[in-house]
Amino acid sequence: MAVRAAEADRYLGGKAGLKAGELHGFWSFLQEIILNLSLNTELESLLRALDGRYVLPSPGNDLVRDPGVVPTGRNIHSLDPYAMPSMQAARAGRQSAEELLRQYRLEHGAYPQSIALVLWGTDNLKSGGEGVAQALTLLGARTKTDELGKIGDVELIGLEELGRPRIDTVMTVSGIFRDLLSVQVRLLDRAARLAAAADEPLEMNFIRKHVLQEIEERGCSFLEASNRLYSNAPGSYGANVNHLVESSSWEGDDELAEAFTSRKGFALTPRGEWTESPDALRSALKHVNLAYQNIDSAEIGISDIDHYYEYLGGVSKTVERLTSARPAIMVGDSSGTGGRQRITSLEKMVSLEARTKLLNPKWYEAMLSQGYEGVREIEAHLSNTYGWSATASAVENWTYSRVSETYLQDPEMAARLKELNPHATMAMAGRLLEANSRGFWQADEGTLETLRNLYADLESRIEGVEEEKA
Ligand code: BEZ
Ligand code: MG
Repeated sequence: MAVRAAEADRYLGGKAGLKAGELHGFWSFLQEIILNLSLNTELESLLRALDGRYVLPSPGNDLVRDPGVVPTGRNIHSLDPYAMPSMQAARAGRQSAEELLRQYRLEHGAYPQSIALVLWGTDNLKSGGEGVAQALTLLGARTKTDELGKIGDVELIGLEELGRPRIDTVMTVSGIFRDLLSVQVRLLDRAARLAAAADEPLEMNFIRKHVLQEIEERGCSFLEASNRLYSNAPGSYGANVNHLVESSSWEGDDELAEAFTSRKGFALTPRGEWTESPDALRSALKHVNLAYQNIDSAEIGISDIDHYYEYLGGVSKTVERLTSARPAIMVGDSSGTGGRQRITSLEKMVSLEARTKLLNPKWYEAMLSQGYEGVREIEAHLSNTYGWSATASAVENWTYSRVSETYLQDPEMAARLKELNPHATMAMAGRLLEANSRGFWQADEGTLETLRNLYADLESRIEGVEEEKA
């Protein structure tokens, strides 16, 4: 190791114009990370915790942002609620929110009047509250710090300093965010209410513009029309959109939108209570041009789990049903440690995920080496990709064609899958056929016939085995 480090030191150091030995600290740093990554005390710590014994504490973060998170198997401590967003997160959130607006304007020629922003708890814990800072920036607000350095309130940034309109920002926060970040929930709600109440020209304050419009059209109170922070009822989690999609039990888009608004339609009142207000949520979402969510790290991609399409897809489909127009949908990749925030369209991100995982031999061969569970994981990835068709029309035709060719139309591969996990293989054929029948995938009759035969064959094999067992 020492010889290797010395060689690398000479080579890289030379390239970077450094003198011998100047990278020494860097190699030690990397060595420490590798060592900590290889330690695995999770089971041991779990047993200690169950025994009521002491477990060492550790910060909770992304490995890239804070290498102090390894070794794992420690007691993660989360946050100081009065220090979020941190200074770095406030800066990063401000930059990424302005970048989001810049990119939208580049494509659409104007500011989005209203943005549907999805906020998750774990992301904000990892980033120190970057999503919170983004929301405040969009509204044209910032946190206020007291004499002791505690964040306890928010204030509006004057329009002159802001230099652009306040964007109407409809925040749907996860149940985890609601539970863990109650101080931030209050700050965000207060920022939205301050913006709605500011007596400013309506072309410079889109939230006020929409609130006044709502009062006029629906005859509701100013208080109700200014609700911008929504979550589930206390004690409840998720939008259920994923369950409807996974079980193939939804009949039309309205059902998905209905699930989203009925689950996420609880608004925070200024008294800090959650009240069921699906109509107010619908009214607020009626103005949305852009839906956005941060992807907090490279660890979990948007098609690895069903929750991204449940939330971002769910809110986008709701906007589409309310306005008869699909909003622009963007995601932010904030996993880097510096430089400009990367913001990209959902379609590009879905396609990147498919090319780097589902259709990448390195990924699927690694999955297949895991046997039964690996095939289940491939199937889950396909289902999550399909979720982006169902909720956001974000999957291109070639994606399904290539999945079908790679896994099910190739006899050798199909045989491997069937052998390892016939249930998941049948589910993949079923999902592709469903994508075709719902109009998400145009395929030729020969392809569909192959899939139907495969499905029927596996179904009778599985039923046969089950009958034998009975
Ligand atoms: C959250 O951290 O808020 C979250 C994580 C996974 C799924 C949904 C929400
Ligand atoms: Mg799940």
